[in-house]
Amino acid sequence: MLRPMEKTDRQPVLELIRATGFFTPDEVKVAEELIDIYLNQPEQRDYFVVVVENEKGQVAGYMTYGPTPLTEGTWDLYWIAVSPSEQGKGYGQELVRWLEEEVKRKKGRLILIETSSQPKYEPTRKFYEKLGYAEVARIPDFYRPGDDRVIFGKYFS
Ligand SMILES: CC(C)(COP(=O)(O)OP(=O)(O)OC[C@H]1O[C@@H](n2cnc3c(N)ncnc32)[C@H](O)[C@@H]1OP(=O)(O)O)[C@@H](O)C(=O)NCCC(=O)NCCS
Repeated sequence: MLRPMEKTDRQPVLELIRATGFFTPDEVKVAEELIDIYLNQPEQRDYFVVVVENEKGQVAGYMTYGPTPLTEGTWDLYWIAVSPSEQGKGYGQELVRWLEEEVKRKKGRLILIETSSQPKYEPTRKFYEKLGYAEVARIPDFYRPGDDRVIFGKYFS
């Protein structure tokens, strides 16, 4: 089941983000900031967060997304993570497919996802490619020397 994130999900979501072992402490801080904007500023329209539950009703994964400022119909998938014990069961796919439907409902035409060229992100890039996303831009040495910013995108019109 997929639903909007609630305040009671905050700890489980932060735990699963840390448990992936994928993100640096600074990255976890940024993920947390976006979650708190969503949870504490109901009037804002920049960041939205949804969670997906496993069959026991526990939070298995989460995703932060929003309309890209100053664009017409471009949306960003800012953050996605699935708990290590729940990976490979289709939850990541469920989150991205749901976002695609949501973006189409909002008359959006492009979803962008930013990631890193580091070898540890190879499975993540494979995941996006599997879901039909293609590399649309790359900025060499963006994060640090030898670590490019890779932007995946999918157009809907
Ligand atoms: C990337 C991530 C969100 C994928 O979620 P998931 O629930 O494990 O993925 P799913 O089970 O929905 O997989 C969907 C498809 O992608 C493919 N896929 C998933 N992980 C893969 C991997 N490691 N290598 C190759 N393909 C992979 C699956 O084979 C599946 O295709 P199939 O249905 O034909 O088998 C999750 O692994 C994760 O949280 N990773 C760590 C954090 C991260 O990288 N976040 C993104 C930061 S930019």
